[in-house]
Parts: sequence; structure tokens; C-alpha cells
Amino acid sequence: VVLTEEQLYRPNFHFTPEENWMNDPNGMFYLDGTYHLYFQYYPNESKWGPMHWGHATSTDLIAWKQQPIALYPDKLGYIFSGSAVVDHHNTSGFGDGTQTPVVAIYTYHNPIKEKAGKIDIESQGIAYSLDNGMTWTKYSNNPVLKNPGIKNFRDPKVTWDDIHQQWIMTLAANDRAQFYSSKNLIDWTYLSEFGQNIGAHGGVWECPDFFPMKINDSANTKWVLLQSLNPGGPNGGSATQYFIGDFDGKTFKLDPLFKNQLSKKEALWLDSGKDNYAGVTWNNSPSVNPTYIGWMSNWQYAQEVPTKTWRSSMTLPRELTLLQVESGYKLISTPVSQLGNYFKETIIKKDIVFKKNTSLLKSEDLDLSKSVIDVSLKNMKTDIYTFSLNNTIGDTLEFGINNKENFLFIDRKKSGIINFSNEFANKISKANLDKRQSSAAFKIILDKTSIEVFFNNGEEVLTEIFFTNQPYMNLSIESSGKDAEISILKANQLNIN
Ligand code: FRU
Repeated sequence: VVLTEEQLYRPNFHFTPEENWMNDPNGMFYLDGTYHLYFQYYPNESKWGPMHWGHATSTDLIAWKQQPIALYPDKLGYIFSGSAVVDHHNTSGFGDGTQTPVVAIYTYHNPIKEKAGKIDIESQGIAYSLDNGMTWTKYSNNPVLKNPGIKNFRDPKVTWDDIHQQWIMTLAANDRAQFYSSKNLIDWTYLSEFGQNIGAHGGVWECPDFFPMKINDSANTKWVLLQSLNPGGPNGGSATQYFIGDFDGKTFKLDPLFKNQLSKKEALWLDSGKDNYAGVTWNNSPSVNPTYIGWMSNWQYAQEVPTKTWRSSMTLPRELTLLQVESGYKLISTPVSQLGNYFKETIIKKDIVFKKNTSLLKSEDLDLSKSVIDVSLKNMKTDIYTFSLNNTIGDTLEFGINNKENFLFIDRKKSGIINFSNEFANKISKANLDKRQSSAAFKIILDKTSIEVFFNNGEEVLTEIFFTNQPYMNLSIESSGKDAEISILKANQLNIN
């Protein structure tokens, strides 16, 4: 049987636009029971082009409904990435007294100035909605933040800083993040900048996010800066690093412990897989911890991936938590709990001993393209544990742990169609671990074209996409040496699509 593009590649539970091009998630907010997700969108082609903000809504972060386009380009330029905030107290004055205004802050990218070789091609504009994000009015005096002579000056992420009673805008400015403050979302004052010569700088800094978090759920607060960069990711191309520190209302300073962590490695990564970029968090989220979503692709090959009707999907929404451990801070990602509402059947297997290639799950038992699989390894005495997803025509995706050289990996060299880009599968992706593990817990989330591996409850994450010739039908595991043991495997079928 020859499957259609829809059947083979349309994700079961990851957001994709019905058709055409999508990149970064933008302007996410929650209001009156609905989660809003806007996104960089080109409605005429499945390649990047003049950017709009597409729109989708959900009541549970899992099932999405696409809505009409929210923002169109205008004479100031394309509508690049940005954020939206629920203005509960009508600080902007855009409210009419009957509705809570929502204000979007985005980048204008001017193609005419760009063609003319100008530097000041990017500035920040705003728009407001008085109907819970369904329709938008652009502010008449845009831009609200003019370009100061910085070429890459974009992706404003605004948040209410309750501690210092101000709106803060975090902006990517070439090789650093800049902070601005405002009382009304219209007039912005420059505060400070961060990051020149700190962290990874293999490319341009883009799409920052900046918010306070409680450490280990204590009363102790730290500020977290998420900072996407492209290229320069740990496994090539696009990726997102993070920084932990303190913010006095004006300046962001690295925490000494985090500074020490950074003295040992180039950067700390939110996700070490190749396909989680430009992610940011929801405004006005009802959850205690921040809710995050990323674009599940990489600028190295995003425009070449083998789907024609649409291109790209988002990651699964994730909850972020901040942990302080012996070695320093860790920003932890776990899938949002709402996913559990879709669990249908659970297969449980205990005490599996294996050495050579051993099948764990077959498509007769479970549709692997909509599944959440937890596997715990114990008494880890051998060096390499390799999971493999495969089908009868030889497509194989390998992933697992190298316990000798201390890294997690995904290898998509034989995963299916890979020849659309030289950089898609030329290297094994790795996430470095601090030490050898004696036990390991993998949460593996599978859709038709993606794998999201959450290691040890989200201490490390690897997100990658793949394009099989036929669906994967079997998950197996192999150890490189002695007999190895799985203490428990739990596989949940998702009732969704
Ligand atoms: C990140 C990015 C942003 C920019 C947008 C343009 O992927 O390059 O910096 O605003 O995409 O579509």
C-alpha cells in the first residue's frame, strides 16, 4: 500500500497548520479557558516567505483548532516573532471597559529597507485584541520601539514583572539580549543587556524568554533566560540555551553557581535534540510552572523536509521546573500533564532481561505513532543500550545511552527519507551526561514524524523529527555486552487525532 502524505506524515497529536509554512510559536496566552498559539506563518507556500501570524486555539494544549490568520504584513514590514500579554488592569488603555485587552508585541521586518542594504530593518510594533485574541487592531503609532542601529533586533517577549511592578520586554539584539521596561506597553525604556561573550555564540541570538521561577518549588526565586541561537546548537543548527540568575528590576546577573557550571561547558541546553527551536512560554498560564512550546524543526533543513502540503510542527507543550542539584541548576522539561487525559490502554511488562536485539513492542499491540512509553533500566553494567524503531522495509531510528562515554544519543542515519539535506542525518545527536548511570528512566513520546525523549524525568531532553517510508512497527532494545535489565516498561496508547 502506498500511503498519502497525510496518512504517513500528518502528526497525530503535534500541532501543524492545515497547509503551508510555519516556524516559531508566537504570542501564546491563556484566557477564559482557552490556550492561544500564534505562529510564524506564510499562507501562500510551504516555504518561508512574508511572515504573518497564524493562529490556533485549544482548551487542553493537546487538541488544536486552527483559526483565521491573526496578523498580516503591512507597510512597516513582515510580522516576525513576538509575544502577547493579557493586560488585566488595562495599563495600555486599549480596553473599552467591557473586555480584558490582550496586547501583542512583535517585530516588524522591513524587506524594502533590507533590499536597500539598510541596518535599521527591524523595529517593534504592537496590536491589541478586545475579543480574546480572535481579531487584532494594530496600534496607530507603530513602531513603539525604533531600531537603534542594530541589524538583528527582534523577537520581543513581554512579561509582567510583579516583583518590580513593570512590564519587561526581552529582545534579541545580534549577540545579546536586551531588557526594556514599560508601564503601559507603549512607551519603552532601555534597561540593560546581557550575554555578550557569555554562553554559546555560534550564531545570531533570537527569540529570548525571561521569567522568574521558584527553585525546587521553594520560596527562593531565580530568573531564567531562555535564549535561542542559530546556528551554533550542540548538534548543529538551531537550538536553545538557558541562563539562571538574579534580576533587580534593571540588570540580569548570573547566579554564581550557574557561572561555575558555565565555566565547565559552553552552554546549558534546554533540549539537545536537533528539532526544538525558538520556544517560549505561555502568558497568563493557569499552571504554577511555566508552560512552554517550541518549533519542532531546524533552520538547517526546515524548508526541505519531505512534506509538501504543510511544513513543520510544534513540540509537545511542556512544563518547566527549576531544580538545584549538587552540580548546580537544571531546567527540567516534562510533557504537560494534560497528555495523560488521552491515555487509552496501558501495556505493562516487568523484569525483562535482554542482550541481543529484543522486541519490546509491536504494532499489533500498540500503534507506535501515538504512544507514550516509559522504560526503566536497572543494574546498568554494560556500556551501550540501543533502542531501535523499525519497519519491515529497513527504516531504523536508533536512540539510547552510551554509559561509557556518558551521553544519550539519537541516530537517524537509516531512519527513512534523509537525502533532502546533508545536515539532517550526517551525525549522531548527543546529550552529554555528567556521569555514568546505574539506572536510567526514558519517557519516549512517539508521533508519526517525531520522537521526544525525556531522560530521568526531564533532566535531559532530545527532540527529533524523522520521515519514514512506512510507519515504524517495532520497538526493540539491545545491549552492547552483558545481560541487561529493564525493571519496568509502561506503554500508553494515546486516544487521539
Ligand atoms: C527564528 C526567527 C526569528 C524571526 C522569525 C522569522 O526562527 O528567525 O528570529 O523573528 O524566525 O520568521
